[in-house]
Amino acid sequence: MSAKKIAVAGTGYVGLVTGVCLAHHGHRVTCVDVDEAKIACLKAGKSPIYEPGLTELLQQGIEAGRLQFTTDGAAAYRDAEVIFIGVGTPEREDGSANLDYVFGVVREIAASAGRDCVVVVKSTVPIGTNDEVERYLAGHRANPVKLEVASNPEFLAQGTAVRDTLHASRIVIGTEAERPRRVLEEVYADFDAPKLFTGRRSAEMIKYASNDFLALKISYINEIANLCETVGADVDEVAAGMGYDRRIGRHFLRAGIGYGGSCFPKDTKALDSFAAIRGTRLKTVAATIEVNEGQKRRLLEKARAHYKSLAGVTVAVLGLAFKPGTDDLREAPSLLCVPRLLAEGAQVRAWDPVARQNFARRLAGMQCPGCGEITYCDSIEETLTGAELCLILTEWPEVCALDPQLFAKAMRAPIVLDGRNCFAPKAVRDSGAKLLYESIGRAPVDTREKA
Ligand code: UDX
Repeated sequence: MSAKKIAVAGTGYVGLVTGVCLAHHGHRVTCVDVDEAKIACLKAGKSPIYEPGLTELLQQGIEAGRLQFTTDGAAAYRDAEVIFIGVGTPEREDGSANLDYVFGVVREIAASAGRDCVVVVKSTVPIGTNDEVERYLAGHRANPVKLEVASNPEFLAQGTAVRDTLHASRIVIGTEAERPRRVLEEVYADFDAPKLFTGRRSAEMIKYASNDFLALKISYINEIANLCETVGADVDEVAAGMGYDRRIGRHFLRAGIGYGGSCFPKDTKALDSFAAIRGTRLKTVAATIEVNEGQKRRLLEKARAHYKSLAGVTVAVLGLAFKPGTDDLREAPSLLCVPRLLAEGAQVRAWDPVARQNFARRLAGMQCPGCGEITYCDSIEETLTGAELCLILTEWPEVCALDPQLFAKAMRAPIVLDGRNCFAPKAVRDSGAKLLYESIGRAPVDTREKA
């Protein structure tokens, strides 16, 4: 492998993990970010995000002298052979992708690149953006250098980002010329993953089509789950039965209160909006979004079936993060459910092993007159104590490992609404705990003593 001099713009999930993994495979990498505090933290060998395995590789890279961090983009881009762009493309009000950060970096590259270089767009961008980036660079470069553009979308999931990068399901390389293709082949020579060479627009589309298909699969199983509830079928059994068919596959068929996170909500809306601007309606993607919005409200609907009003009801909330293993709250169902509970006057007791501080920050300022109060608890038992209703919003291992008896012991006349199907209904029944347990797409278990 020929080691390359690489700059990576952006030290979020995508940029940082990419930079650290490229350094791990022997390249000389400089990661760039405008956030001075973040860069100072990274220089000290600390990762600003929680991601298994990342800190170890980060420290190894720094010690080996292959990994550097800077806020000086111009200096990093000046003599880089390859520049990866891994900055965010957040959602605009209308659902479209905001490309301001991407083009901010592109402008800086145009102004500073001092040698022939391949600019690799890793950020998720609408189809055609890579072409636009190449046109901009050709028209605005300050020095007479050749700046070619390649699309190299990212498929990592939070919580498994390092593994997903070092052993990716596939590395998609979208190019329109021979040199960028060859350079990226060299960059990824030591990565253990199938490499797929496509055109740039196909590469951009592969990213959206993959994420939106996974989101569609989740919305599909959630709709089937809702129907299972009304016809007496069990969605876990249904999903397991479907999964045996290799054409369907068993992954991403977990029913629940909908998907959140930094990608699925944003990427479904971005493709929907992108298609609409081009006069096409993506009906399946629009339906995916609509079903997910409804699904996030599912536990509140279930709660309302038991209470005329939630005013004064003490509600235990287990899990705030959009999924276990992360403190990320982006588009988490908790951000919809908890403010709603408080607005209706419920007293909320909340637990999450890592997302609690982020949640408290997001909630600050949402408080209103007549709203209930929220208390953050250190343990699950403390959270449940004195509550009469429990909502499970994230399938943290600590929650899944609970003995259902704890609900009966700690709560008053417990009603447990499980939005992540953490417990098998049979296990709840067999535990002998006296409670009402409802989940998504499965029959309720009611073992309460009848008055
Ligand atoms: C996702 C994709 O997996 C990844 O390939 C892409 O690059 C970025 O988006 P991430 O958002 O980190 O990754 O999490 P993921 O584990 O995919 O879960 C996303 C959401 O879907 C979570 O809220 C999760 O609870 C939900 N989900 C997932 C389900 O509700 N059911 C499932 O079967 C799977």
